[in-house]
Amino acid sequence: MKTALYYFSGTGNTLSVARRLARELGDTDIIPIARTLNVGIDDDTDAIGILSPVYCMDLPWTVRQFITTLPRFRDKYYFFIFTCGTMPGGIVNRAVDIFDLKKMKTSAAYVIPMPGNVMTMYDEWERERQLELFRKAGEKIKYIAEVVKNRKDDVLEKQGRFRYMLSRILSWLSKRVLFGKFDKKFWVDDKCNNCMLCGRVCTTGNIIMAYGKPTWQNGKCERCLACLNWCPEHAIQYGKKTAVRGRYTHPDIDIEDMLDSFPKKFENEKRYV
Ligand SMILES: Cc1cc2nc3c(=O)[nH]c(=O)nc-3n(C[C@H](O)[C@H](O)[C@H](O)COP(=O)(O)O)c2cc1C
Repeated sequence: MKTALYYFSGTGNTLSVARRLARELGDTDIIPIARTLNVGIDDDTDAIGILSPVYCMDLPWTVRQFITTLPRFRDKYYFFIFTCGTMPGGIVNRAVDIFDLKKMKTSAAYVIPMPGNVMTMYDEWERERQLELFRKAGEKIKYIAEVVKNRKDDVLEKQGRFRYMLSRILSWLSKRVLFGKFDKKFWVDDKCNNCMLCGRVCTTGNIIMAYGKPTWQNGKCERCLACLNWCPEHAIQYGKKTAVRGRYTHPDIDIEDMLDSFPKKFENEKRYV
């Protein structure tokens, strides 16, 4: 019984969950969602897990596109896992609603709190708090693995109607403010040595070298903050406050793992000229 885990991850939390779950399950493929877009999937498994971070109490646009265009395979077992900071909102409701519309059954859907990575809003969380979250995540993943191994129907960790409506309003407002504009506030400081790792780790191929420095092409940004958090020089800033803040990436994940999430279609593009 084989499982496929399709994941999206900017700073490694979601990828670490996918890996840990795969270890528990055995015989599992781990596939970056960013690589499947516009290419489609060729799936020979009997269970599909979709793993994603929560962005503005909603699905990242990349993941939403993936779920919306995912073919309806017959007799397949589907489940979702979302990693979040402290406010998952109605993320499970959103994903399950999309599946319901497509007449696809969601057998289980979970939310796993992990350290926040939004250095544009706050500083890196304390180490103790991070370790506690990793410990709890490990326990939950073991539980999820048992459910998935047995292809059981389990909880859908949805929000109640009122809280879901509230999170939809907040999410809608944030999208109005951010859509197509999120990357306008990125800039690089004097520490930048033009290594262009930011361009390579960007899951939408949004960062190019222009005028002798990394440049964000407004509009394509997914908001994952991989560029800001993975920059080895801490040279990428967002607005005025990130210069004095730490950076976050999951300690079990390194940059090579992230580059593996890179969409193949961008690899031949001239993005470093
Ligand atoms: C743009 C952005 C928006 C986010 N919005 C939320 C949110 O609304 N609620 C929440 O709990 N966490 C939010 N987070 C935190 C991430 O969901 C969380 O840290 C996640 O585990 C990151 O996963 P990754 O390391 O795989 O990218 C947000 C992160 C980013 C980058």
